[in-house]
Amino acid sequence: MNNADIRSPHIKVFATGGTIAGVAGSATRRDYRPGQIGIDDFLGELAAMGIETALIGSQFANIGSEDIGPALWAQLHQATTDALADDACRGVIITHGTDTAEETAFLLDQTVSADKPVVIVGAMRPADAVGSDGLRNFANAVRVADDPDAAGRGVLLVMSDRIFAARDARKAHTEMTDAFKGFPRGPVGHVTPTSLEWFGPAWRAGEGARYRFFEDMPKVSILYAYAGMPADNVADALDGGTAGIVLAGFGHGNAPRGIRDALADAVKQGVLVVRSSRVDEGLVDREPEDDDAGFIAARALGPARARILLQLLLANGITDPARAQEEFSRR
Ligand code: DGL
Repeated sequence: MNNADIRSPHIKVFATGGTIAGVAGSATRRDYRPGQIGIDDFLGELAAMGIETALIGSQFANIGSEDIGPALWAQLHQATTDALADDACRGVIITHGTDTAEETAFLLDQTVSADKPVVIVGAMRPADAVGSDGLRNFANAVRVADDPDAAGRGVLLVMSDRIFAARDARKAHTEMTDAFKGFPRGPVGHVTPTSLEWFGPAWRAGEGARYRFFEDMPKVSILYAYAGMPADNVADALDGGTAGIVLAGFGHGNAPRGIRDALADAVKQGVLVVRSSRVDEGLVDREPEDDDAGFIAARALGPARARILLQLLLANGITDPARAQEEFSRR
């Protein structure tokens, strides 16, 4: 099971840490340390669960996902690309903290091919907690990664018996095991260790990577709108050398007049500005003011995923707001 023969059909497991590898030292203690259990020990637990899928584990890091960023993304991107090109590899599972799982999932979703399953999985309770969800989520992830029908759906995120597409998924609860939600689609499938149901056909069959991956991407800031927000927030971001700004706006991507004017000035200086919303659900569509100011509407992407997409566009040489809008509109 663990460290199966690399020439025989197998699934690669890339471990990065998070609560799924976390330990509290007591079944009822609230605080715990994420990223404590090594992948070999973790996979060793699966034998007792009767999981017979051949898995090959690699430890990339053992950290909380609050500390995951471009350097680790570059390693994961390379390893995932190599694994997908390997005929013996049927799919990839990445164990990950839930805090930034949405960003890693979306970045890989846009930069690796969709022809084999790539599944990100985490947990909300450490491994030694009463009612720990880690092994169940992992068993579910194996079930998904082992299913040929998981291909052509981009990167998938598996939590609490649900399968989310990376485009839709976001963390929506700080503590509950049912921590993820999907918008505009809800879950795209339901999984347990013994069952798997897809809610529709694959939508990205045969698709290659959408954008080239770069470890070093242009700086993009998120500005979170609040009542009374002064316009100097925009100046501060520009002084910091940002190449793009994602507004996490009120409601339908709105902000105080002074901020909107300052953002329109930033566009004139060549900065790309995306209007998204600080509200959890709902589209942010183009409005007449966007044409005048040169803003981009984030559509269904929340601020964290909109920031990743804007970085990818800039890194891939897409700097015209109208072209960038086309890319946001097709997510
Ligand atoms: N610090 C968090 C992280 O690794 C732990 C939360 C989790 O894994 O759910 O993202």
